[in-house]
Amino acid sequence: MPSITDPAGYWDRYGRGVADETPEDALKNAFGWCQYEGHGPGDELLGDPLTTLELGHGRGNAVAALATMGITATGVDLSPVQVEAAHARWGELANAHFERGDVLDFLITTNRRWDAIYSIWGAVWFTDPNVLLPAVLDRLAPGGRLVFSHAPHIPDTTTGAIGMWAAGYTGAQVAMARWSYHPDQWTELLTRHGYTEVHARVLPAPDPANVGTLLVESRRRR
Ligand SMILES: C[S@@+](CC[C@H](N)C(=O)[O-])C[C@H]1O[C@@H](n2cnc3c(N)ncnc32)[C@H](O)[C@@H]1O
Repeated sequence: MPSITDPAGYWDRYGRGVADETPEDALKNAFGWCQYEGHGPGDELLGDPLTTLELGHGRGNAVAALATMGITATGVDLSPVQVEAAHARWGELANAHFERGDVLDFLITTNRRWDAIYSIWGAVWFTDPNVLLPAVLDRLAPGGRLVFSHAPHIPDTTTGAIGMWAAGYTGAQVAMARWSYHPDQWTELLTRHGYTEVHARVLPAPDPANVGTLLVESRRRR
């Protein structure tokens, strides 16, 4: 597979396609792990954090929702389009902070720690977990949580890095990868990298015939 040539450009194109909402509308159901609005658990999976970090915040709605609760909420995102849009929508909100960059670069160059680090269909899906999981663990406060969601693995297909042509089949050769595993494989990966209290599952869709959500909870030891 060709190397990943332009991930920021891919996410900028994606970000330009995200519908604009008023801040009031964006805050309704802003924090959810699922692709179905108002479905499934919410921010209670983060525990009772004073500080949070979102990996791949997109428009920043979840960061904003946490900030309105008094949490010092930070997000990091690769896409300049998404980061600018988050600043434009939430820049006035005290406690909401948005950083531009690749999550790995960000995690390995900061000396900060967070009570909870999370990702909602975000950067965890697009980053090699064998590199990302140690970097996140290092930046979690003792007892801190890593929680993330994205699409479940497609049964009877190969797990691991799944390549895709990100600019379509008639466009430039922009190669991207998503890392996809079954819940028991996420449990093994997280446990091997030193996480504890791992709970990985697929949450059914409201209509169980539709695609569910992979949801993974874990902690750093106290
Ligand atoms: C599908 S969007 C989800 C955004 C948001 N979490 C939401 O639920 O609306 C994925 C986001 O992850 C960001 N992203 C992907 N890979 C990343 C990386 N390596 N570092 C930082 N952000 C990344 C993208 O720029 C994009 O904004």
